[in-house]
Amino acid sequence: MNISKLHKLKEEGKKIVGITAYDYSTAKIIEQSGVDLILVGDSLAMVALGYRDTYVVGIDEMVVFTKAVAKGAPKSFIVGDMPFMSYNISIEQGLENAGKMIKAGASAIKIEGANNYLLTLVSRCVQSGIPVLAHLGFTPQFMNIIGGHKIQGKTYDATLNLLEWGTRLAEAGAFGLVLEMVPEESAKFITDNLPIPTIGIGAGRYCSGQILVSDDILGKYTDFTPKFARQYANLNNIIQNAVCNYAADVRSGSFPAENEVFNLSETEYNKLKEDKNFVN
Ligand code: KIV
Repeated sequence: MNISKLHKLKEEGKKIVGITAYDYSTAKIIEQSGVDLILVGDSLAMVALGYRDTYVVGIDEMVVFTKAVAKGAPKSFIVGDMPFMSYNISIEQGLENAGKMIKAGASAIKIEGANNYLLTLVSRCVQSGIPVLAHLGFTPQFMNIIGGHKIQGKTYDATLNLLEWGTRLAEAGAFGLVLEMVPEESAKFITDNLPIPTIGIGAGRYCSGQILVSDDILGKYTDFTPKFARQYANLNNIIQNAVCNYAADVRSGSFPAENEVFNLSETEYNKLKEDKNFVN
């Protein structure tokens, strides 16, 4: 997968499939399942690290998780999420940190929001060889400004505003646009009028593709389940059952079994048996 192929999927009306991943073993399974894009999202702050929001993670943590995902999914198109305040201070800071994500194994970066400063950052990244996925609609890094998890683009004017900034981001070089928590009709209008693919999360059926948080669809993260996150598995139950069974086996003495232990050679064992402290 690469940017041209993602654009071709939009042209051909084929849906783009995106999902988040945060660790090596999950990334490996996801790559084997055949998706178009893996995002190392800053949502890891909540689902992997247990924080209430995404504000707390920094570039160094994102680099560690991105390295793990890149090792697990070496053939995939991996987008590394730029965390809060890792690209907002100066173009130089943004470029330097974007470079860290690419060096960690990401094929592209994602940034939230749009303003004139970010347009310059997008074009400087692209000029430096760093593809950028933009992110509009509900942008969690602006939650304290927005005032909570609120649907965006709820009016005609707000929809036009999102399209205008989406268009500017595309002109600056962004290869795609994540649209989060936007009414379906607005997301369709934006998708129909934007030259780049839109990847929706809570943005209805007509985006060029969809992305969801892996821990949500796998039923592993249960602190909060958004309306738009369809659950395809219940790992919570599966893991709980497995751990309960393991605990019961340890307590009953049925784990470990004979075939799950290492043994001394007969000679060494005989020496041990002759030791005065040997208990039979
Ligand atoms: O961090 C994340 O997982 C995201 C997706 C929700 C798009 O930004």
